[in-house]
Amino acid sequence: MVKNKITLTGIKADVGSIGGHLKPSQKLIDTVDEYVHKHQDNLIKDYRISYTGDDILILLTHTGGVDNERIHKLAWDAFVQATEVAKKQGLYGAGQDLLKNSFAGNVKGLGPGIAEMEFEERPNESFLVFAADKTDPGAYNLLLYLAYTDPMYNSGLILSQEISRGYEFKIMDIAHTKANKTIRLKAPNQLYEIAALLREPMKYVIHSIFANYNQEQSVAVSTTRLKSIAGRYTGKDDPVCIVRVQGVFPATGEVVAPFELNPLVSGFARGSHCGPLMPVKQNTTISYFDGPPIVSGMGYSIRQGKLTEGVDLFDHPFWEQIRKRAVDKTKMIREQGFYGAAMLPFSELEYNQGVVNILKNLENRFKIEN
Ligand code: 13P
Ligand code: 13P
Ligand code: MG
Ligand code: MG
Repeated sequence: MVKNKITLTGIKADVGSIGGHLKPSQKLIDTVDEYVHKHQDNLIKDYRISYTGDDILILLTHTGGVDNERIHKLAWDAFVQATEVAKKQGLYGAGQDLLKNSFAGNVKGLGPGIAEMEFEERPNESFLVFAADKTDPGAYNLLLYLAYTDPMYNSGLILSQEISRGYEFKIMDIAHTKANKTIRLKAPNQLYEIAALLREPMKYVIHSIFANYNQEQSVAVSTTRLKSIAGRYTGKDDPVCIVRVQGVFPATGEVVAPFELNPLVSGFARGSHCGPLMPVKQNTTISYFDGPPIVSGMGYSIRQGKLTEGVDLFDHPFWEQIRKRAVDKTKMIREQGFYGAAMLPFSELEYNQGVVNILKNLENRFKIEN
């Protein structure tokens, strides 16, 4: 049998943006595009460049497999080149997500967010790419949980024999920074264990999902924690997620349906707040309170690595209502400013130096009363 293995790689980075953390300049996007175009080698089949908020996403299809040094280096070098342009243009946060000075064989742990998977291409291979800004990888927890375990969203779980076998979740403890710490749990049998972990999206995040029916991979999420790499806040992680759909996987509409919930996620201004995730069109900028947290989604078909034009999943009248709802939720949580659930817990505060100093100074002014 002729093997037809293909790899999808989504690498995103914030290497500078206009007017604060709003959007990359056109020149930046063109620089990345031209660099990738010029340096394509025989591994690369196709690519697309886009942005979501202030993050540039390079989507590559290739035959090099995951963790491929040539592919990672190409993306890294494109972002390095763009950083030079960002500096020349005086963009904000030039090179923000390139946390190490040099490439070391793999972009993981260097700053850029990366989601990738290798698979045998189906004759009608369809997949989705989500890119989020002003939030972290846990933002996908609830959305993917519902799409892969709940018949209220995924009707395939009761209508399709293959899909009703359920899915296996690989979940990562991203607080463990010394090495990858992961667990594999199968839905529906271990549904409550899965939920117990995913309820804590700042610690446990979905890394990947596989069909129980044939062990085929459906989902890959970037799990980069910039704070863990840099040891301090350098921007939010702004995760990318690739989802293979249809057949033994959920239908596109079933994956997209839970996005109507606008779940409250961490991120927003200074990466220190809580706000609803708003589904937006690709190439949407950032505005209100450095947010709200946004996610874009594109659908593609692929044949022997060649991509069709993309379908913008959230460019449809249905999502106008959902965006309005996200605005309502945004206004509601912003009404309480810095208070309680509106701001992240102390451990997650991205700019905690100010608060740390205030509390330190106040500590010895407290009096213990009898
Ligand atoms: P910087 O720390 O990069 O200045 O970002 C802060 C910011 O714009 C938060 O609103
Ligand atoms: P980014 O992580 O998207 O650069 O956002 C940083 C920030 O602090 C916005 O207020
Ligand atoms: Mg930024
Ligand atoms: Mg960003």
